[in-house]
Amino acid sequence: TRQWRGVIEEYRDLLDLPSGLAAVTLREGGTPLVRSDWLSGLSHAEVWLKVEGDNPTGSFKDRGMTTAISLARHEGAEAVVCASTGNTSASMAAYAARAGLKPLVLAPEGKISAAKMAQAVVHGAQVISVRGYFDDCLMLARDLADRYPVALVNSVNPVRLEGQKTGAFEIVDFLGDAPDVHVLPVGNAGNISAYWLGYTQYAEWGASTRRPEMRGFQAAGAAPLVSGEPVRDPDTRATAIRIGNPASWHLAVAAAEQSGGGFAAVTDEQILSAQHQLARHDGVFVEPASAAGVAGMLADLASGPEALGRWEARTVVVTVTGHGLKDTATALEPVGDIVDVVVDPDADEAAAAAGLA
Ligand code: F0G
Repeated sequence: TRQWRGVIEEYRDLLDLPSGLAAVTLREGGTPLVRSDWLSGLSHAEVWLKVEGDNPTGSFKDRGMTTAISLARHEGAEAVVCASTGNTSASMAAYAARAGLKPLVLAPEGKISAAKMAQAVVHGAQVISVRGYFDDCLMLARDLADRYPVALVNSVNPVRLEGQKTGAFEIVDFLGDAPDVHVLPVGNAGNISAYWLGYTQYAEWGASTRRPEMRGFQAAGAAPLVSGEPVRDPDTRATAIRIGNPASWHLAVAAAEQSGGGFAAVTDEQILSAQHQLARHDGVFVEPASAAGVAGMLADLASGPEALGRWEARTVVVTVTGHGLKDTATALEPVGDIVDVVVDPDADEAAAAAGLA
């Protein structure tokens, strides 16, 4: 058996990249599509989870970072910059380390999980905290890249979407066709735009017969695509999607409209509850933002008896975007003490404590 080669080598002919581009890769992509018996049972649909936390740095960002960093190196960049709520910066730092580029991270002050910050720093990034939101960091990153010798690797750089569209390719390759519905969390809106690009190209090339409805879910306190207006002070416990003015706004709206899908908001309570239910029912531990799609599906199913008709007998893919280990502090809040009892190494005592005896 051969090893998965990473998204550039697996899909090179289908990506708009300079010919012969040397890949900077950690063998990202090729992530599991895991059937959710739990969600399939609730919705009477065939529900699959695209588990993007299985990527090398723990989120879907690696798909677009292999292309972005490969191109930055190809073009002679010496330094790369991104604005990030944490996952982009972790990914950029890892790929930049491999490519010998200097990574510079612009992070909203105090709003990034410790694990994501650790990834960036351990891979050698310089982290600059910015007084402001992600949206301010992105403006700053664009300005820096315009005026100084540093390459911008946020998803406003179209080479990121080239890599990220491979998520759609993998799903079609596995299922044999596109699903009926694709559900995912939306923050800066690069991922929904990339999936739509991938599904559209596969349909044009005859690799699939259809394109899915794209259903994007945002956190209620940071839901500009639902209200139709930028949010000045976005707020959510799902810090990865705490974004008030998504850069790929127009592409995302086009994806929703052309696909017959749409955007909806879920509360933090619904997001955190979905995160825990997914972990317990399906054995898949995701970070809070990653659970927004599952939360949205659950909220829709709970909205009334007519909801079932939207899901029943259909094939649904839910992208869960990042690993649960990215933010254990938030995950543990409702859990309380992890260890309830301490015993001597004695089977009878442990059995009594566990209620086995
Ligand atoms: N899920 C996770 C875990 C994320 O980290 C992000 C975005 C999203 C969903 C939303 O994806 O922005 O393409 O709509 N994280 C970015 C970052 C903003 O800086 O890591 P999107």
